[in-house]
Amino acid sequence: MIREAVPADVPAVAALELLSFPDDAWTPDYLTLAVDGGLPTVSLLVADSEDGAVAGHAILSIVFEVAELQRIAVHPAYRRHGLGSDLLVEVVGRSAAAGADRLLLEVREENAAALALYAAAGFTEIDRRPRYYRDGATGVVLQLDLGKCT
Ligand SMILES: CC(C)(COP(=O)(O)OP(=O)(O)OC[C@H]1O[C@@H](n2cnc3c(N)ncnc32)[C@H](O)[C@@H]1OP(=O)(O)O)[C@@H](O)C(=O)NCCC(=O)NCCS
Repeated sequence: MIREAVPADVPAVAALELLSFPDDAWTPDYLTLAVDGGLPTVSLLVADSEDGAVAGHAILSIVFEVAELQRIAVHPAYRRHGLGSDLLVEVVGRSAAAGADRLLLEVREENAAALALYAAAGFTEIDRRPRYYRDGATGVVLQLDLGKCT
């Protein structure tokens, strides 16, 4: 199940942040701020596993017509069970419902799992940024057209 995070989810999300993004993990304080509504453009979503654990999360920012997926991660114990896709579907739905016309994200060019997930969801590459990450890795900018009809 995908749902909005509550304060009790912060320790699990913070642990998954550290595991997945050790160089720039969101801190518990910052995650708490997001959960408490202190970052008005930001939503923190979590995916519950069938056994009730917080198995994944996504952080979405929407500013007018541009939505940005800032984070998506699924705990290694729960990968390849569709939770990443479920989180992404929710992110896309919320972005479109908020009036965004595109959803953007950056991904390391060697991150085959994430690139496959995004390709399956219909994202296309719009830019490539050499040395985008601290360790010198190239960032790939992907976009999903949300097909806003006004
Ligand atoms: C990317 C990530 C969120 C995917 O989560 P997940 O729950 O395993 O994804 P799903 O089970 O929904 O997979 C959906 C599809 O994505 C693709 N995919 C996911 N993991 C893959 C892998 N390791 N290798 C190849 N394709 C993969 C497949 O097409 C998969 O469909 P399939 O299982 O029917 O073949 C997860 O691997 C993760 O947390 N990685 C570390 C954090 C990260 O890199 N986040 C992205 C930063 S931009």
